Amino acid sequence: MKRRKILVTSALPYANGDIHLGHMLEAIQTDIWVRLQKLRGHDCVYVCADDAHGTAIMLSAEQQGISSEQLIDAASIEHQRDYADFLIQFDNYHSTHSEENRELSESIYEKLNANGHIHRRKIKQLYDPEKNLFLADRYIVGTCPKCHTENQYGDNCEACGSTYSPTELIDSRSVISGATPVEKESEHFFFALPAFRDMLKIWTRSGTLHDAVANKVSEWLDDGLREWDISRDAPYFGFEIPGEPGKYFYVWVDAPIGYMASFKVLCERSDYHFDDYWYPGHDTELYHFIGKDIINFHTLFWPAMLTSAGYRTPTAVFVHGFLTVDGTKMSKSRGTFINARTYLQHLNPEYLRYYLAAKLSSGIDDLDLNLDDFVRRVNSDLVGKVVNIASRCAGFIAKGFDGMLSKQLDDEELIAEMLASKTEITELFERREYSKAIRLIMEQADKANQYINDKQPWIIAKADKHSRELQEICSTGLNAFRLLISYLKPVLPATVEKAEQFLAIDPLQWDDIEKPLLNHKINQFTPLLTRVEIDKVQAMVDASRQEYEMQQGNSAAKPAANSSGLEPEIELDDFAKIDLRVAKIIDAEIVEGADKLLKLSLDLGLDPQGEPLTRTVFSGIKSAYEPATLVGMYTVVVANLKPRKMKFGLSEGMILAAGPGGKDIWLLEPHSGAAAGMRIT
Ligand code: 2FM
Ligand code: ZN
Repeated sequence: MKRRKILVTSALPYANGDIHLGHMLEAIQTDIWVRLQKLRGHDCVYVCADDAHGTAIMLSAEQQGISSEQLIDAASIEHQRDYADFLIQFDNYHSTHSEENRELSESIYEKLNANGHIHRRKIKQLYDPEKNLFLADRYIVGTCPKCHTENQYGDNCEACGSTYSPTELIDSRSVISGATPVEKESEHFFFALPAFRDMLKIWTRSGTLHDAVANKVSEWLDDGLREWDISRDAPYFGFEIPGEPGKYFYVWVDAPIGYMASFKVLCERSDYHFDDYWYPGHDTELYHFIGKDIINFHTLFWPAMLTSAGYRTPTAVFVHGFLTVDGTKMSKSRGTFINARTYLQHLNPEYLRYYLAAKLSSGIDDLDLNLDDFVRRVNSDLVGKVVNIASRCAGFIAKGFDGMLSKQLDDEELIAEMLASKTEITELFERREYSKAIRLIMEQADKANQYINDKQPWIIAKADKHSRELQEICSTGLNAFRLLISYLKPVLPATVEKAEQFLAIDPLQWDDIEKPLLNHKINQFTPLLTRVEIDKVQAMVDASRQEYEMQQGNSAAKPAANSSGLEPEIELDDFAKIDLRVAKIIDAEIVEGADKLLKLSLDLGLDPQGEPLTRTVFSGIKSAYEPATLVGMYTVVVANLKPRKMKFGLSEGMILAAGPGGKDIWLLEPHSGAAAGMRIT
């Protein structure tokens, strides 16, 4: 067999957001494919990175009072942890905000420029005169010029669906400062995309894209391509364009170059050669897995830029649809916008890996995570069919034969048949028709279960638990199980590892299952995978909704900030209305099902009648404090805040804390002389 050399990427997640199940759909699809190639003995590497640049990240950091670098460093750690816990196995994970990426981006730009593919011209754009920032369409709101609905974004109206230019909006204002935008001119740099039309027409029809994708791209190619604006003016978090002070590469320029940079870092600590994978004329393959929302970047701009700069183009771009939950777009208020971390707090990652594999195809249709179906499917296929085979046979082998498998099989034909499906399963995985592969594997599992039902080993065991027939039947069952887990290994790496330990075999490879496992001692059977409980699924949805409500709660209190970045001014009288009291924390406990909340019982001294005054407050400080360490501490509470009904109970106030979040949330702690109930003036 020829050992293929393959480089694979999945899209780089933005650093200013959590990894959610939509990201996981892509990572799982990619990871299964990569693991398959590795198991088959191909030389396949998988790289990714955080997409760290752009206005959104800059503003988000500013709002949190931290630097962009601090924001992306923290995100990188969390993102990598989330992926790792879903068993996504990257060979390298990097960041687009890196020296490697800067060098590559600059050198690619210089080649494009030298080839005459960079054009400059002045354009007019809306500008925030308070914030001194050019405003992308999504940072402008106003009244729709067609239907007069208020609060519509700069490029299209959600109410009537019309599209327009932001200058047409009535009473437009900057989302960032509230200021009225003004038109301002500046010089921008454009990439000469139309020069690549012929090249792209050929490239997109040379086996690189699924037909449905190629058809979409054809429409763009036929409509006529426009030059692509690749520059942004300062202030911008990104790379400055060489020799052009104050001009930055648009985030989508250096994002895909991040694929190269991440691979470059891998090369620096391994025997891989960068040039073999990125210059033409080498026998290597390059694949990008992406979602359907970013097709244009990967099938127009990216191959054109690579070509101009003298690099190779991708072997193929694999596009998937969106993830929906229970039939609709993921929704924060319904709790179906599920973060990877929230899922992991409730459920085993392999359930999702399996469910998505059982539904994935090579097409671009959306994939629905139906939560009831998820529970049913995982339980019936994995627990009911696959693991069941092992648990039905293992006991008899342990009890009657001291863990030894027989010297020959009871039914060689069954095993031969199951083995015969391997070519097709391999082919289906290779073509990313995972759902078909899984269906075929489950058909084999059905055959094996039917075989055990027919042979009724439990009847034979009653008569003679040492009978040779019993040993051969159960050994056949366990050989069937071995084939099944070998086929499922790209999807369920952790469960299969446990199964390998149970069977006392070396890590399975794709091609070492031809010979049956005979006259071999296996280990004690331990449950390999437990059933999914619907309660846990519900708890995950509740927790997701709760996270959203917490966020809403936090931002509801915040009207638009003014130009100093502060809340609008208030009168002294307004401030005097706030009853701030010193409170002693008398109890702090974890709230079952809430990721961020602690339930605090506060002592506020005595009321005017001399009765003890207490308050229960739910506070989003769990990430920073062990409940026990809070007990006895003094803090400051807004004592006259209207009680708010939350999912977990009534919250009767709010305690004061500051910090960027995570581990860094500091409670306001009054010191010497403080006593519960003291009013702060
Ligand atoms: O759409 C996104 O989430 C982008 N951050 C994907 C970038 S993929 C690549 F080009 F870097
Ligand atoms: Zn409208």
